[in-house]
Amino acid sequence: MAYPVQPFARLCLALIALLLFPMVSGNWKGSNQIRLRCGATSSVTDFDGRTWEGDANLRRLPLPGFSVDTPSLDPSLPSPVPYMTARILTLNFTYLLRVDPGRMFLRLYFYPTSYGEHSAADALFSVTAGIHSLLNDFSPSRSAQAMGRTCLIREYSLNVTSVELNVTFTPSPRHAGSYAFVNAIEIVPTPDIFTTPVPRFVNGGNPDLIPISSSIGLETMYRLTAGGSGFILGGDDSGFYRIWEGSSRYMLSGGLSIQKGNNVTINYPLSMPDYIAPSQIYETAISMGRNPRANMRYNLTWILPVDAGFYYLLRFHFCEIQYPITKVNQRSFFVYINNQTAVEQTDVIAWSGGIGIPVYTNYVVVTVGHGQTDLWVALHPDLSTRPEYHDAILNGLEVFKLQDNSNNNLAGVNPTLKQNSDRPASHGQDKTNARIPAIIGGGAASGVLALFISSFCIYVMYRRKKTNYTHGKTNGNPPNGDRELLLATSRSQDLKLCHHFTFKQIQEATNNFDETFLLGKGGFGNVYHGQIAGTQKVAIKRGNPQSQQGIQEFRNEIEMLTNLRHRHLVSLIGYCDEESEMILLYDYMANGTLQEHLYNTDKPPLPWEHRLVICIGAALGLHYLHTGAKQAIIHRDVKGTNILLDDKWVPKVSDFGLSKASKDVDNTHVSTVVKGTFGYLDPEYFRRQRLTNKSDVYSFGVVLFEVLCARPVIDPELPEEQVGLREWALSCQRKGVLSEIIDPYLMGKITPQCFRKFAETAEQCVAERSMDRPSMGDVLSSLQVALQLQEEDCNFSEETLLLNRSSLVATRVRPFSGSMMSISGVKAVFSELMHPDGR
Ligand SMILES: *[C@@H]1O[C@H](CO)[C@@H](O)[C@H](O)[C@H]1NC(C)=O
Ligand SMILES: *[C@@H]1O[C@H](CO)[C@@H](O)[C@H](O)[C@H]1NC(C)=O
Ligand SMILES: *[C@@H]1O[C@H](CO)[C@@H](O)[C@H](O)[C@H]1NC(C)=O
Ligand SMILES: *[C@@H]1O[C@H](CO)[C@@H](O)[C@H](O)[C@H]1NC(C)=O
Ligand SMILES: *[C@@H]1O[C@H](CO)[C@@H](O)[C@H](O)[C@H]1NC(C)=O
Ligand SMILES: *[C@@H]1O[C@H](CO)[C@@H](O)[C@H](O)[C@H]1NC(C)=O
Repeated sequence: MAYPVQPFARLCLALIALLLFPMVSGNWKGSNQIRLRCGATSSVTDFDGRTWEGDANLRRLPLPGFSVDTPSLDPSLPSPVPYMTARILTLNFTYLLRVDPGRMFLRLYFYPTSYGEHSAADALFSVTAGIHSLLNDFSPSRSAQAMGRTCLIREYSLNVTSVELNVTFTPSPRHAGSYAFVNAIEIVPTPDIFTTPVPRFVNGGNPDLIPISSSIGLETMYRLTAGGSGFILGGDDSGFYRIWEGSSRYMLSGGLSIQKGNNVTINYPLSMPDYIAPSQIYETAISMGRNPRANMRYNLTWILPVDAGFYYLLRFHFCEIQYPITKVNQRSFFVYINNQTAVEQTDVIAWSGGIGIPVYTNYVVVTVGHGQTDLWVALHPDLSTRPEYHDAILNGLEVFKLQDNSNNNLAGVNPTLKQNSDRPASHGQDKTNARIPAIIGGGAASGVLALFISSFCIYVMYRRKKTNYTHGKTNGNPPNGDRELLLATSRSQDLKLCHHFTFKQIQEATNNFDETFLLGKGGFGNVYHGQIAGTQKVAIKRGNPQSQQGIQEFRNEIEMLTNLRHRHLVSLIGYCDEESEMILLYDYMANGTLQEHLYNTDKPPLPWEHRLVICIGAALGLHYLHTGAKQAIIHRDVKGTNILLDDKWVPKVSDFGLSKASKDVDNTHVSTVVKGTFGYLDPEYFRRQRLTNKSDVYSFGVVLFEVLCARPVIDPELPEEQVGLREWALSCQRKGVLSEIIDPYLMGKITPQCFRKFAETAEQCVAERSMDRPSMGDVLSSLQVALQLQEEDCNFSEETLLLNRSSLVATRVRPFSGSMMSISGVKAVFSELMHPDGR
């Protein structure tokens, strides 16, 4: 009747915990974590290293309801785990979970879609856990639609007093044909993390202390990290697998993203356990900006939709992380909640005791009415003590809904679907929005953790730093007013959204193009690294002014990139066209090109999973180019050296000098002068000058072989039949000996199923005729499946040996390949994959 985590899984979890958090000392170790994939019979490990047990084989009697495979998982999901299966329940059903009494997170995972003859709209049900009512006549599809999500995670914190937790699903009696479903259930025990410090109740007057009962039930509405790359995934949390989402999408006004100074370390005070929040939360922050007068004119404001009629606990995380703010009364500010003063003279240094020391505080606010309402959180400089800076700072913010004590209820109402959603979330078009996979969060329309902060927003923040402040203009506008700000300050119509740098700034950044700053030389010119504004590392591409073609590619690149923002596309920071210079500034990609990690290098070889993840990221970038941007774009020069890796190993497609918008491509194809890189060129385009999206697919297929075989695409030194990688790989594939020409480092490390899937995908991509090639979206799904197969296969099979060329002793496929995914870089990539839209 119970579902204990199996000892093996527990051991593995412990191992993973060790791998993931070797540095963090005081992690609180909950013993009895439970993860169920509902409707599944086998266990699977996800990229966070969590193992999910099938719910069906953990009980002797068959479970009621139907086990179904989720049809057509959205390819934008980073990992199908734990959404691949669901349990459909047409009658009441209770999961009896054996738990250790105490506080725990209970997470419910929902992937709303039609399951066989069960339509998405008929999923309408209530959920209770113990004495708590969690969801009432809940419609996952409606909630997901209102938020523009593909899946939902609901997270509750409950203090369970018995050794059993009954989680009951009840199809709505008010709707004919209603049914309940759930994809996964997770339980993570925690210590008491809510009752201290005792919150203050914000009610207009002098805020009173309002103690929180240790037995209270809460629902997570928001868990936000301010500044930085914008999200922290479960595996990076301090042991509780909490997801921290970027806050910028909820911001009314912009702000300045700040990073911990290099010589600052985060030191938790003795009074604060480090599991309150991971140190990454404190390493980044949002402040108001550097212009004191502009700061006085606006409020740093977040607007958070919540369910009306509940109390909310707001937890603010603060930490000063940049010199010169080290002393009391340098920065002092107001915190307003719902337009009421929660606290005056917030001085983080005074509270925490110094730079790098985190501090957190709690407030409680009540909302009235029914349906949805907005929670307003705002910061503003408080000059009453004449602080040195007129500024405010926030590192993180959590919002929890408190249960209604009269009936232990936490459930809100379903959102009303707006025709023209004006939510902050609806940046792009509905079509793209609907593809954003989802995340944690609470109430009906509202609580949503979209893990990502868009690169657009980072860019906006960067812009704000550089341009004159015009906060007055944006204050009061919805967040996408930022776009207007940029347009207003842009230099010319053509080069809108793109910052102009003076030649002098560039000279300073590169020490006047000092040779020691040279990163590389390319067709377009030299590439240097440098620092702008003394802090931001950038890559600076200086074109050769003589080349006429260069000018065109220069403009093309600016035009393309300024209109494209995606996590897997390199961001253009700005340009300089003074004194007939053609200079482009990009985000600095600390880990260089994909190619330089594959061959002709002394860098350590990349593990197979890592390579797969990089391919998936690059595929996401290309898929976005082909389908996600306002107009479809053909990259035209996909190759191993145009896939760059940033400091967190996030792959980014670069070099848009040759790219074409499909409007220039006459919808389906374009006749034009053949450009691109030999070895990667689509033969159809090459021969018939016919350019389509499938030309990029071809080139990407060649990259896949490059990744698998770790050799140049054209190697003239080799025997003739081996010179061209594609032809050589295809001929080996036909003979069934492809596994013999792969990177020797990978021998024995790829599971046979994964290998088959990957090779098959690459082979389809490089098909002679474009009509035989898959779309980039199909390639993406195939690669995700390949990754899945790699992770899933925990069993050593004889086939593994086949992958081993010589009769070397086969290296056993590690039973926990999932743990390999916890290399921090790879995880960063994954977090990107969670949000391929990345805007
Ligand atoms: C299902 O549960 C609800 C609420 O607990 C109850 O009212 C209803 O009678 C139950 N239905 C059946 C068939 O047991
Ligand atoms: C859970 O449900 C079972 C059977 O429905 C019942 O026997 C048990 O007492 C319940 N446990 C709790 C803690 O409510
Ligand atoms: C759970 O509630 C009980 C009282 O109901 C309390 O004694 C205990 O400390 C609580 N546990 C946590 C972790 O809050
Ligand atoms: C840390 O670096 C800043 C400049 O970035 C400098 O002003 C400060 O003095 C340094 N502090 C220490 C303790 O080294
Ligand atoms: C706060 O004030 C703004 C205007 O200043 C208003 O639009 C908003 O509704 C108020 N928020 C709340 C929660 O009262
Ligand atoms: C900031 O918010 C507070 C509380 O809503 C409001 O009183 C104040 O006028 C706002 N200030 C600005 C500059 O918008």
